[in-house]
Amino acid sequence: MSSPNYLIAPSILSANFAKLGEEISNVIASGADWIHFDVMDNHYVPNLSIGPLVCEAIRPITQAVIDVHLMVKPVDRIVPDFAKAGANVITFHPEASDHIDRTLGLIRDSGCKAGLVFNPATSLDYLDYVMDKIDVILLMSVNPGFGGQKFIPSTLAKLAAARQRIDAYTAKSGREIRLEVDGGVTVNNIAEIAKAGADTFVAGSAVFGAANSSDPHCYDSVIAKMRAALGA
Ligand code: DX5
Ligand code: ZN
Repeated sequence: MSSPNYLIAPSILSANFAKLGEEISNVIASGADWIHFDVMDNHYVPNLSIGPLVCEAIRPITQAVIDVHLMVKPVDRIVPDFAKAGANVITFHPEASDHIDRTLGLIRDSGCKAGLVFNPATSLDYLDYVMDKIDVILLMSVNPGFGGQKFIPSTLAKLAAARQRIDAYTAKSGREIRLEVDGGVTVNNIAEIAKAGADTFVAGSAVFGAANSSDPHCYDSVIAKMRAALGA
């Protein structure tokens, strides 16, 4: 694989929602690349979070990619709403869509990059016939629904398997696909996760739990530590 361009995507699920705009500005000023936006419906996952109205509200705050992770079932109805609200990337869980190929097409037709999300026990076989329609593969390293859980170690082998699929596909097609990981990523394990093949790192509690101040650079140190670990 060519030398990876690593992206850090703080999950705002762990931000202080009472000052969400400020949190987003600060995390971007502190060096974050993407904003990871977790959408939970209390149906596909046992928690309820934020929707298109919040995406629309934060869109003017940053030029950064808004990476919408849909943990909702059904999926299709809500896709155009997020595209209109300014999402750049939309990923969904294959188990939550009856027509995966159609949903991927719908996301791309809405002008967004599309991706599939794999729960810890979900097979990568869902990728078999849709690689041409995928821009991001997101592997869950916790069961979805909550921030602050512990990284599941078997994700490392699964990342390596996904990396092999991506590299074989890129060699054949010339098209890049990002390999994102979500759940329990910290300063201490990010290097090992990158070594397994991930190039895009969601981190919620590790970033937003690291500081609590209105200093625009309050997240500098944790993000710098993650980059240092990735560079090592
Ligand atoms: C879990 C979410 C994650 C979560 C990650 O369902 O998809 O994005 O916020 O949080 P941490 O980094 O705390 O595991
Ligand atoms: Zn997520």
